[in-house]
Amino acid sequence: MEQYKGIIERYRKFMPVTSRTPVITLHEGNTPLIRLKRLEALVSDRVELYVKYEGLNPTGSFKDRGMTMAISKAVEKGMKATICASTGNTSASAAAYSVRAGIKSYVIIPNGYIALGKLSQALIHGAKVIAVEGNFDVALEMVKKVCEKYPIELVNSLNPYRIEGQKSGAFEIVDFLGESPDYHFIPVGNAGNITAYWKGYTEYKKAGMMKKLPKMMGFQAAGSAPIVLGKPVENPDTIATAIRIGNPASWQKAIDARDESGGVIDMVTDAEIITAYKLLADREGIFCEPASAASFAGLLKYGKKKFFREKKKLKVVCVLTGHGLKDPDRAIKSVDFKPIVVKPDLKSIMKIIDK
Ligand code: F0G
Repeated sequence: MEQYKGIIERYRKFMPVTSRTPVITLHEGNTPLIRLKRLEALVSDRVELYVKYEGLNPTGSFKDRGMTMAISKAVEKGMKATICASTGNTSASAAAYSVRAGIKSYVIIPNGYIALGKLSQALIHGAKVIAVEGNFDVALEMVKKVCEKYPIELVNSLNPYRIEGQKSGAFEIVDFLGESPDYHFIPVGNAGNITAYWKGYTEYKKAGMMKKLPKMMGFQAAGSAPIVLGKPVENPDTIATAIRIGNPASWQKAIDARDESGGVIDMVTDAEIITAYKLLADREGIFCEPASAASFAGLLKYGKKKFFREKKKLKVVCVLTGHGLKDPDRAIKSVDFKPIVVKPDLKSIMKIIDK
């Protein structure tokens, strides 16, 4: 059997590459679409629920789909270094793919607001990490300024190749289901991913690979919901640090995806995010990071308000964008954890085990 070689090879004819493009890959993509029967029962009897478990990408998030494209094109252009602003996952991915390409990477992060797992990734891959006194939006402004003046490749989702790679998530969903889902739930931060999925779905439809398009259902965290509020949020705040963004770069494109698909962009509270995060983990065995659970939190919210009125069974996909191990602190904080220390004998152990 030939080994799977990543999203550029699998979807080459939809990707902006030529035979001269060096393909820098860690064999990203091909992530599972998992049916969650126990949780779908909590949502609605009209829903068939699938999660796209993007935590299983090489660096543990969906960013790898876009990064393989962006870094391949950077190398093709002869660039010797990359830079990004990040709430953590982009920097982990940029650092890993830059190493793979043999070029340098610089990352600018909001000081104090990135999960430890993500920071450890950027560091172990040898990126130069710069923490700014400010949030993600400030960090992104700094990155833009650097790239205006110096020959360093910007690998945030403002880079169109990131979007091109990330659209492969939509292709996989359609390939696995054999058709488009009816609804696509997704967390929204800088709004690159909702833009990419919508581009993927519309391109696949144009190519005759699917008949209908899904409704795009984007969810921001309530403390960082500029698109929902219709204005930038100066001091975004949420425990879902990955989407702690007050002025998304792809704002208008997210609105276009919503309006063209007949979907919504709404928000979920931190409490709703944590409830969804824990349900995925302790009812279905799926460990994602808090920001990822915003998609399922959105679905729970819409199930509760009897949003799904269609008569037929609906296929619903929630994208779970990043792995739970990215943010172990949050996992420990969200359960009532006190270590149970016992003497090393059977009697003491059996006092604790349910009989
Ligand atoms: N989920 C996770 C786990 C993320 O890391 C991000 C974005 C999103 C959702 C939102 O995706 O920005 O395309 O709307 N993380 C970026 C980063 C901002 O720097 O890692 P988006």
